[in-house]
Amino acid sequence: MEAALSPTVVDLEKQYLLQNYARYPVVLQRGKGCYVYDTSGKRYLDLIAGIGVNALGHAHPRLTKVIREQVGRLIHSSNLYYHEYAGPLAERLSRASGLARVFFCNSGAEANETALKMAKAHGHAISPDKFEIVALDNSFHGRTIGALSITGQESYRRDFEPLMPGVRFVPRNDITALEQVVSERTAGIILELVQGEGGIYAMTEAYIRKARELADRYNAILIFDEIQCGVGRTGSYFAYQLLDPPVMPDVMTAAKPVACGLPLGVVASNERASAGLGPGKHGTTFGGGPLVCRVGLEFFDILDTLLPQISGVGSYFRMRLTEISRRFSFIKEVRGVGLMIGVELEFPCKQIVLDCIEQGVLINCTHEYTLRALPPYIITEQEVDRAITVLKRVFKNAKRPEASQ
Ligand SMILES: Cc1ncc(COP(=O)(O)O)c(C=O)c1O
Repeated sequence: MEAALSPTVVDLEKQYLLQNYARYPVVLQRGKGCYVYDTSGKRYLDLIAGIGVNALGHAHPRLTKVIREQVGRLIHSSNLYYHEYAGPLAERLSRASGLARVFFCNSGAEANETALKMAKAHGHAISPDKFEIVALDNSFHGRTIGALSITGQESYRRDFEPLMPGVRFVPRNDITALEQVVSERTAGIILELVQGEGGIYAMTEAYIRKARELADRYNAILIFDEIQCGVGRTGSYFAYQLLDPPVMPDVMTAAKPVACGLPLGVVASNERASAGLGPGKHGTTFGGGPLVCRVGLEFFDILDTLLPQISGVGSYFRMRLTEISRRFSFIKEVRGVGLMIGVELEFPCKQIVLDCIEQGVLINCTHEYTLRALPPYIITEQEVDRAITVLKRVFKNAKRPEASQ
């Protein structure tokens, strides 16, 4: 009786948590592989993986083992001392990225803040007028003031203006517009090679090469935000390595999957960009502790063997979605790279997401009209087939909202 009267976790959240999230009506309790279970025991196929974080799914035995072991040894040591795992993980990331140095922090936004400071310090060392950052319309770089300042979406920025000055936005893949804004005043250019939150839009090779060329011409720092598209998601370690030859950034930021759910942001940079952040110029209390770094190392070991299958299963997923898109005229486009997949609808997809939850599949909606799948890298073709069966059923019963009919 008492239990029935006690507030649910949902009530408690509504009463005590900052009301900044619109959560779906599911209370998750545990997971295994590509599946998660709610508190009633209902099982869901997880196609969103904590928004691209749980790259090895849930309760991966190797991660569980090292986490258990490390928690009993040393969780945090501070930046005052060395520990066993930051150096080896930095070496691993440096080799994988081709960039000389690594800084560890706690989130994507913090990684981008660091990248911005690198660009600004680089510009400042040349001229007080070299402070502009060129960023893209429809981009997403995080919620802190610096990261928000380079996020090209009015809805996120509006209430917090004025933000950091000197940011010039340009449309993606518009080479002429890019040429018009990059100048001697540019300290940095920042791109997501595949815009994630903005609806899964890839940059063209010509555009990426032009950004590199302009950064070189005007001595600016080229930053690739690989927080959503990096660390295996597209089938290579980093999305810029899909190009042949690769286009190297000066700075690359990563986060989401690096420690598979433990908070670990990464900034990898060449010597030129790293130079601005010398002793005392930057830091963070929690970044790069022994627990997260050890998990990151374990993840990289597993990723080495998983990488070859990611683009295969990703292509299979997109092929199956394209197949069903022919049956449903309201599907405007299926797009993506590797296991970063968007399905754009003619109407807002919130109800589709709720119907999928009902049918035991977790998928998300970004930019209102685009269903987004960022499944664990371990997803199999059989699990993709299962997702397709559910999506077909949901699409078949979909009712277009009045306004968009
Ligand atoms: C491309 C990109 N950059 C930055 C961020 C911000 O990362 P975080 O939420 O960890 O601060 C995100 C988060 O979705 C992202 O997708």
